[in-house]
Amino acid sequence: MIDLRSDTVTRPTEAMRAAIAFAPVGDDVYGDDPTVGLLEETVAALLGMDAAVYMPSGTMTNQLAVRAHTEPGDAVFVGPDAHIWLGEAGAPSPISGVVVRPLAGDRGVFTADALREASPSFDGYTPRSLSAPARLVCLENTHNGAGGSLWPLDGQREVLGAAQDLGLAAHLDGARLWHACAATGISEADYARGFDTVSVCFSKGLGAPIGSVLAGSADLITRARRFKQLYGGGFRQAGMMAAGALHALEHHRERLTEDHRRARELAEPLAEMPGVELDLEGVVTNIVRFRSTAMPAPELVQRCRERALALLSYNDRDLRAVTHLDFTDGELDQAITIFREVLTG
Ligand SMILES: Cc1ncc(COP(=O)(O)O)c(C=O)c1O
Repeated sequence: MIDLRSDTVTRPTEAMRAAIAFAPVGDDVYGDDPTVGLLEETVAALLGMDAAVYMPSGTMTNQLAVRAHTEPGDAVFVGPDAHIWLGEAGAPSPISGVVVRPLAGDRGVFTADALREASPSFDGYTPRSLSAPARLVCLENTHNGAGGSLWPLDGQREVLGAAQDLGLAAHLDGARLWHACAATGISEADYARGFDTVSVCFSKGLGAPIGSVLAGSADLITRARRFKQLYGGGFRQAGMMAAGALHALEHHRERLTEDHRRARELAEPLAEMPGVELDLEGVVTNIVRFRSTAMPAPELVQRCRERALALLSYNDRDLRAVTHLDFTDGELDQAITIFREVLTG
């Protein structure tokens, strides 16, 4: 099976398995695991943050960032189709008790004006008690739901400036920040500057089996550690997994441009095929989003699966194919042939 459902389907390489097997470990709940400690320090330094905490998943780092920044009843602004809002099992409501306020935008990106306009203004007559106090704004880079799109650095900085004026904290869902850096040459620290917290994942495209890090100020990370334990995220000899993440950081970041090239080389012929709507301008990293107009998307998924190509459909029309570490040039050619057979056969 050529699996393009997600970049999370990768399996650890032999070298990564060796790093995992021989990692020094300890009980992380007691703060004893040297490999977890090294990963946290490494990522904090890479992002230019004071402190960091390793957690089992990107959902946990994002949701506990929201929890750390807010109290129940607060409002949180997110971008269009944000993963934090739509892709994490509805967690902001039960975990943080917050009101999520999605902002309109284009390809996952919104403007400082959109944030200002959505923020309640107080003229001295309107009671402040009417609206949920806004505490946090969350950005996502690259943006999964918008097909791996990128936030321009200046647009991001304008939004961060507006957030500061409005007294909002800012969180970056950087599950695929590595992809943004590989695509633009901008460093992780430059993208992270101005955010209060940043979460990054090692299991999406980087090829590690598990894990995510939340980075931020020492106080916020201490608070997030409390919530990590509270929600059952305290894991013991987690250095086994952190070793995979360290290996991925060292060996698999630079090669992400190959995944971007393959996404492009898949998207270009696909865009020409009948029954496909695909905006090539939107293919800038490793996610290819497209619409099926000739047949329902689940049928296209089924027909491709019968030929050993796995994709993901979101609804009756929208699909995605995601390139990753385990997807080769040979498989790229095969995938294009399968699309051709299914769509033109
Ligand atoms: C942008 C983004 N944020 C967060 C997550 C959640 O990560 P996890 O699956 O590790 O919980 C994902 C998962 O695909 C994602 O795409």
